[in-house]
Amino acid sequence: MQVYEGAVDRGLEGVIACTTGISSIVDATLSYRGYTIEDLAANSSFEETVFLLWNNRLPKKEELAKLNADFGREVALEPDLISALKVLPTDVHPMAWLRTAVSTMGLWDADANDMSDEANHRKAIRLSAKMATLVATFCRLRAGKDLVAPKADKSIAWNFLYMLNGSEPSTDMVKVFDTCLLLHADHELNCSAFSTRVVASSLSDMHSAIVSGIGALKGPLHGGANEQVMRTLKEIGSEDNISAWLDTALAEKRKIMGFGHRVYKNGDPRAKILRSMSKEMTEASSEPQWFKMSTILDKEMEERKGLLPNVDFYSASVYYAMGIPLDIFTPIFAVSRVTGWIAHILEQYSKNRIYRPRGQWDGKVNQTYTPIESR
Ligand code: COA
Repeated sequence: MQVYEGAVDRGLEGVIACTTGISSIVDATLSYRGYTIEDLAANSSFEETVFLLWNNRLPKKEELAKLNADFGREVALEPDLISALKVLPTDVHPMAWLRTAVSTMGLWDADANDMSDEANHRKAIRLSAKMATLVATFCRLRAGKDLVAPKADKSIAWNFLYMLNGSEPSTDMVKVFDTCLLLHADHELNCSAFSTRVVASSLSDMHSAIVSGIGALKGPLHGGANEQVMRTLKEIGSEDNISAWLDTALAEKRKIMGFGHRVYKNGDPRAKILRSMSKEMTEASSEPQWFKMSTILDKEMEERKGLLPNVDFYSASVYYAMGIPLDIFTPIFAVSRVTGWIAHILEQYSKNRIYRPRGQWDGKVNQTYTPIESR
């Protein structure tokens, strides 16, 4: 039997699976299309960054205006889709609901099976514009509240907060949320982006690939960690309990959510930006203890395990201070990351070869069939 060199059960660590020009991680520097995340977070907007991810350059004024107008035209859900969504149960995890909602949305998309560049662009706009609307729709249906129609001339960040809360958000709140979306938009060959590329590589359609991305993001080792971070902070309860709580958790070999990273060993640059956003947001809220607790846990984890916070750690307290329900933290990740997934799907289509790796055989050999009566 052939034995393959480097057969792994190690999560493809260190394996280069494709070339990509979307985002890069070099040491502790994350760049989208060659622009550092710090530069973009300080100067750009989510929509402008989406243009960059999809077009490999920053937009001119009129190009950004057109993208905003395209999103505005597509941000509302069609009545048929809303009727279908109302039938779905809401006592489920929001990511499971979102996965089904996006799949359902594909059934109404006239371009669903059209793989032309034009149709893919139209689907990219629809999926990106509607993801926030879907998440807000879930929240309102679950709470038994009337749906709030989005406004076509507002940004995705503004509309999400508006539809979620039913009141116009403050400029400061929109700015913070917009930066969160920008920070989460893409991240090289992470688990969900890889998943979307694998599905796209069979030349399946964009909705199918995005549904696989949502499924991958849902897991607690990936996007699901941000929700678990806030649950951890609540479980600990107060700063006095951190040390003893950590003694027990580490002795039980628990994974502490929001720490560690496969690629960054010297810190996740997004966590640094989110840390100052968390300080600002929590100190302005009625529960400033979450930032203080986060910094103590951060310090203890570095001292005891040499592990640094990742993107999910400080984003949790930012979202919490904004009054967003805990189980909506990961769906928010999807609201942003759908744009990165789309960039990956389009890149995959543009130079496609189907993903088909091999598995190193690790099972029985030379078995002979015995009839069921003789077993
Ligand atoms: N808490 C406690 N220990 C951790 C840890 C964490 N968050 N992250 C890694 N470790 C430990 C592992 O237990 C392992 O220790 P060991 O060698 O003694 O067994 C070692 O560090 C290496 O971790 P490993 O799980 O092999 O790293 P990975 O590259 O496979 O996984 C993550 C990376 C991100 C999945 C992992 O760090 C993790 O599970 N973090 C928590 C979930 C999370 O925040 N995910 C969001 C990622 S952006």
